[in-house]
Amino acid sequence: MKFPSKLVLRTKNYQCYNEQLNSQPYPMLMTTANKDKLSSARFSEATDAFVEVFTASVDFDQRMAQQDIDGSIAHATMLCKIGILSAQERDSIFQGLQQISEEIANGDFQWSVKQEDVHMNIEARLTDLIGMAGKKLHTGRSRNDQVATDIRLYMRSEIHAIIKVIARLQLALLDMAEQEAGTIMPGFTHLQVAQPITFGHHLMAWFEMLVRDKERLQDCLKRVNIMPLGAAALAGTSYPIDREMTAELLGFSRPSANSLDSVSDRDFAIEFTASASIIMMHLSRFSEELVLWASAQFDFIELPDAFCTGSSIMPQKKNPDVPELVRGKSGRVTGHLVSLLMLMKSQPLAYNKDNQEDKEPLFDTADTLNNCLRAFADMVPHITAKRDNMFNAAKKGFATATDLADYLVRKGMAFRDAHEVVGLAVRLGLESERDLSELSLAELQGFSEMITADVFDVLSLQGSVASRQHIGGTAPNTVRAAIQSARLAL
Ligand code: ARG
Repeated sequence: MKFPSKLVLRTKNYQCYNEQLNSQPYPMLMTTANKDKLSSARFSEATDAFVEVFTASVDFDQRMAQQDIDGSIAHATMLCKIGILSAQERDSIFQGLQQISEEIANGDFQWSVKQEDVHMNIEARLTDLIGMAGKKLHTGRSRNDQVATDIRLYMRSEIHAIIKVIARLQLALLDMAEQEAGTIMPGFTHLQVAQPITFGHHLMAWFEMLVRDKERLQDCLKRVNIMPLGAAALAGTSYPIDREMTAELLGFSRPSANSLDSVSDRDFAIEFTASASIIMMHLSRFSEELVLWASAQFDFIELPDAFCTGSSIMPQKKNPDVPELVRGKSGRVTGHLVSLLMLMKSQPLAYNKDNQEDKEPLFDTADTLNNCLRAFADMVPHITAKRDNMFNAAKKGFATATDLADYLVRKGMAFRDAHEVVGLAVRLGLESERDLSELSLAELQGFSEMITADVFDVLSLQGSVASRQHIGGTAPNTVRAAIQSARLAL
C-alpha cells in the first residue's frame, strides 16, 4: 500500500466547509471506542468468549483493509466539506490511516477478534493513534454501508484483474490458433468422429467462450460499481452528506438509489459468482479435452512437463494435473454461487448478520478463478499439437461422409436419398476396413451412377475443411480471417 495514495491526492480538490474550524468543539467522552465490545454502554454483560470468536469476521475480512481505508478517506473528506470535521481533524484522520496502512503492509498491525471485523479494528486503532478525530469518523456512517462499500471496491479491482488474465489467455489461444489454422483433426459430436475440422477452428471456439465470459464480467462491473456509502445503517442519515462527492472520490459511477436496498442486497456478488461459475464451467470443458487429448488413446497433444506431475508408484506416468485440478475447481466455484444464493434467499430487509457469510465464498471465487485462468494462460503457449496423430484420427471414422452426401446433392440427388447412399458406402467401408476415400471409383459408382472421378476431391480431408468457407466455418482461410478480426477486437 502506498501513501499518499492517489485518493488522498484527489481529496485536495475538495475544500473544507470551514477551514478555520480547527478546534475540537465537542468534549472528549470517556466512551467505548477502545473497549472490547462495540456497543458496550448498552450491555451489562461481556460477550461470551466463544460467541466473540464465533461472530467475528476479522480473520477473513481484513483483506478488505485498503478498501476500508479508502472509503474512510473519502468519507472524512466529505464530512469536512459539509462542516462536520475540521480540516485539522480530517488531516489527522488521513495521517492516522496512513500509518495504519503502513502497519498493515508491514505486518505490524495487531488484528483482534475483540474488535470483530476489519472496520472496527481500523477504527479502534485510528482512535488509539489520533484520539477524538478518530471517534468522529463514523459520523453519518454505519458498518452496514461501510462493508457494502468495501466489498464493491474489492470486487471492482478483482474483476479488473480477472479481465486482464482472460485477455492474456485469449491472446495465447489466438497465437496457437494461428499456428494450427491448417491443422486437420476430427471434429466430434457425441465424442464420435463427426466431420473433419481444423485445430485452429477448435481453439477459436474456446476463444469465443472467453469473449462472452469477459463481456459478462464487464456487464457485472456496471452494477458492482455503484456506491452504497451514505445509506448508513439502513435509513440514511440526518447529516447533510454529499454522496455524489464520495462516489466521485471513490470512482463509483453513482450513489445507490435506495438506502435499504444498498445495505442489504448482495445480488452483485451473486452475479459475479455466477459469471465466475460460467467461466469455470468453460475451463472445465477445456480441461476435459486437454486431459483426453493428452491420453495415449487420443495422443493429440503434448502438455508441457512443467504443468504435469509423475506418479509416486508408476514410473511411466505423466499426469495432466493442472487441467484436472481446474476441472475439479469448477465445482467449488459453482458451490460458492449456490452458497450465496441460499445466503440471500428469504432475507428480510435490510441488513442481516447473515451477510457476513458472503465474504469467504466471494473471496475464494475470485482467488480460484484468478489462479485457474493464470494456470491456463501460462500453460497454453507450451502445448504442442501432434499434427500427424490428429490427421490420422480424422481419417478414421468416415469423417467425410457428409461431404459425399453434399456432393450427391450438388449433382441433383435429394439430401435424404444421398444420406441413404452414403450410409451404404460407409457400411462397405466398415466391412472392408477402409475409409471412403479408399473405396474404388467402381465401388462407389455401384451405389450411385452420379458419382464420377471428381468425388475424390471431396472425400479428402483437406477438400472437406477448405469447402467450409462461410462466416464461422472451419476452412483454414476463414479461421485466419477470424483470428485477424479477433486480434483487432482484443
Ligand atoms: N462484519 C460485518 C459484515 O461482514 C460488518 C457489518 C456489521 N454490521 C452490523 N450491524 N453488525 O457484514
